[in-house]
Amino acid sequence: MILTSKNIIVLKETDSTNNYAKQLIVDKAEEGTVVLARYQKEGKGQQGNFWESEAQKNLLCSIILYPRFLAAGKQFYISKIVSIALFNVLQRKVSEVSVKWPNDIYVGTKKIAGILIENTIKGSTLDSSIIGIGLNLNQTKFISNAPNPVSLKQLSKQNYVVEDVLSEFVNEFNGLLMQLKAGKYNAIEKLYLSVLFRNREWWTYRTSEKEFEARIIGIGDFGQLHLEDRRGEINEFMFKEVEFVI
Ligand code: BTN
Repeated sequence: MILTSKNIIVLKETDSTNNYAKQLIVDKAEEGTVVLARYQKEGKGQQGNFWESEAQKNLLCSIILYPRFLAAGKQFYISKIVSIALFNVLQRKVSEVSVKWPNDIYVGTKKIAGILIENTIKGSTLDSSIIGIGLNLNQTKFISNAPNPVSLKQLSKQNYVVEDVLSEFVNEFNGLLMQLKAGKYNAIEKLYLSVLFRNREWWTYRTSEKEFEARIIGIGDFGQLHLEDRRGEINEFMFKEVEFVI
């Protein structure tokens, strides 16, 4: 994927950049097309949540890919490389950055960015992928009931230029995408684990049934979290089957 400015569509306002990108795919948009919005009326978060972002303040974008080289069963690797790329950008600016499984970007115990990836599959491989990113840059007041938002400005007292941060992200992402295309799954997995929030540390987790102490010991190909509890029992959890007690 080569991202150049000719591939960037900048919108003053839209419902959701992911939805806009979906339509572009129908219209056969080029790979690498970026939709950047100053404001989203219906920004989508994980699990049907709303993504809060004050107008003009933050990075709100969706990138179109056609990862036909990637087996459907390996789609979580897209999520991994997006998370690592965001981690790389942010850790140059602030400390204590990590990736909270599956793909929230945290600074300490606060969420600075969210990722919403929407894939389509054809046959045994991915066909298209919309990589939606919301990264809080310059917003200093959050009004929704999102539990623990934070922005770069709140942390560093500086202002950030949306396009500059986007271009830093795109550079990081391109490098990782090349690694993925080259089949460097183990290297990517290792990187992802090295930046993972609370990896291998004993903490409390919660399912619908109970709270228990456990530690992360790995991530499955489908993105399942592998947790070992205090009795040495290992269980796999899909997204939303378990949550961190923070
Ligand atoms: C999450 O809940 O953590 C995911 C949030 C993803 C938000 C971004 S903002 C740009 C893109 N367009 C959307 O509607 N959502 C994603």
